[in-house]
Amino acid sequence: GRKWKKVSELDASLNGQSVLLRGRCHTTRGKGKIAFLILREAGHTVQCVFQVEDNVVSKGLIKYINSLSKESIIDVEGTVDIPSAPINGTTQQVELKGRKVYCVSKARPVLPFNLEDASRSEKDFQKAEQEDLQYVRVNQDTRLNNRVLDLRTSANQAVFRIQSYVSMFFRQFLVSRGFVEIHTPKLIAGASEGGAAVFSLDYYGQPACLAQSPQLHKQMAICADLGRVFEIGPVFRAENSFTHRHLCEFTGLDLEMEIKEHYFEVLDILDELFVFVFDGLHQHCSKELEAINEQYPFEPLKYLKKTLRLTFEEGLQLLKDDGIELDPFGDLDTASERRLGTLVKEKYNTDFYILHRYPLAVRPFYTMPCFDNPQYSNSFDVFIRGEEIISGAQRVHDPELLTSRAEACGINVKSLSTYIDSFRWGAVPHGGVGVGLERVVMLYCALNNIRKASMFPRDPTRLAP
Ligand code: 4AD
Repeated sequence: GRKWKKVSELDASLNGQSVLLRGRCHTTRGKGKIAFLILREAGHTVQCVFQVEDNVVSKGLIKYINSLSKESIIDVEGTVDIPSAPINGTTQQVELKGRKVYCVSKARPVLPFNLEDASRSEKDFQKAEQEDLQYVRVNQDTRLNNRVLDLRTSANQAVFRIQSYVSMFFRQFLVSRGFVEIHTPKLIAGASEGGAAVFSLDYYGQPACLAQSPQLHKQMAICADLGRVFEIGPVFRAENSFTHRHLCEFTGLDLEMEIKEHYFEVLDILDELFVFVFDGLHQHCSKELEAINEQYPFEPLKYLKKTLRLTFEEGLQLLKDDGIELDPFGDLDTASERRLGTLVKEKYNTDFYILHRYPLAVRPFYTMPCFDNPQYSNSFDVFIRGEEIISGAQRVHDPELLTSRAEACGINVKSLSTYIDSFRWGAVPHGGVGVGLERVVMLYCALNNIRKASMFPRDPTRLAP
């Protein structure tokens, strides 16, 4: 077992050593007495060179290598070698002098698309046009229909490693601050974020739905004296719009915490949490970020050590100064959010900021009105590059106010009775947030579509694979 290496581990320090690798047959090319095989493992590639030599490499082996279908799983045995000239088109800068090849699992000879094509950047395609190369663009539906294959590109490998790091950093930071990880039910009696976007179902003859968020139960965990809680779990939204940033199922990073005096206590946690996540990505994911950049070039995220906080009113003023006048008690539409993101970047040099004190009318029923002016609320949204990744607030912890707010918002109070009752045995002031994991990854890496940040995306027209 000691000979086994990962492709990503191969470097000059192994020069002259005999190793065994397992990966996919990325490409082969050969003629006469020599064959070049590019072996790929988890997005990393190495060139293996086979040259006919008595008692080591036979002509038959060269023929066999040339007959291997792309994407087959193969084992290669050989010696690590430092090539005389730099190698183009592989991630590893050493090569392998191959001796043996075993096919572990054959791939069908015809693939739905060529993985090299699926890995090309826009720049590659422009160059190909000038040089008349036969590159094929792989469209998104073809990719998603064959997602297992699509996920094998270096950029996609990197996206899902980054996704994993984001949730790991989220968990790591919150645990260090005394938060408890919880798991709330996804089968619940009614909507938590407003009735429209809910997947209804029949629960043994009783109407039920898939949870639109852990909102109700994470608050109930606070009523149960857990103090500070968080959850990483699926969130279901029956979105019937088809946009670049909405999924019907996404991963929610939620937290909820006791508040002593002010909802800024939640913002303080959020502030440190996201600087921790962004710093962590910067420190631990440089290879992944590089791989994404090669196919989808992007500007690194600009963020401040102390996150900018603007009130909703200040935000509207910035837009007004730019000639966009909006209803002071209405919501921001997508275009004005984007525009505001650009204005904030110009003025404060950050892609990441918090907008707080939203009008009460545009927030969910459980949102705490401002004490000094009930037309506003103790709530906020957080943006990356002008698009929302987080929304949060202080919550109403008085059961009577909660009931009247739910009624005013046209919510079926009956389906919420056990939730509202939770506040009748004494409840601490509290607040929290919901973060969309796919949104964070999409916007951090400036990907143009949330489907790229979801391993098996669900939208109104997609339930498979
Ligand atoms: O803004 P939302 O709906 O807020 C809540 O669910 C509250 N319970 C949060 C809270 O604690 N007050 O959703 C929170 C986040 C959004 O900011 C966005 O990042 C993401 O979830 N999100 C979606 N992501 C992908 N597809 C969708 N359809 C999404 N809807 C919301």
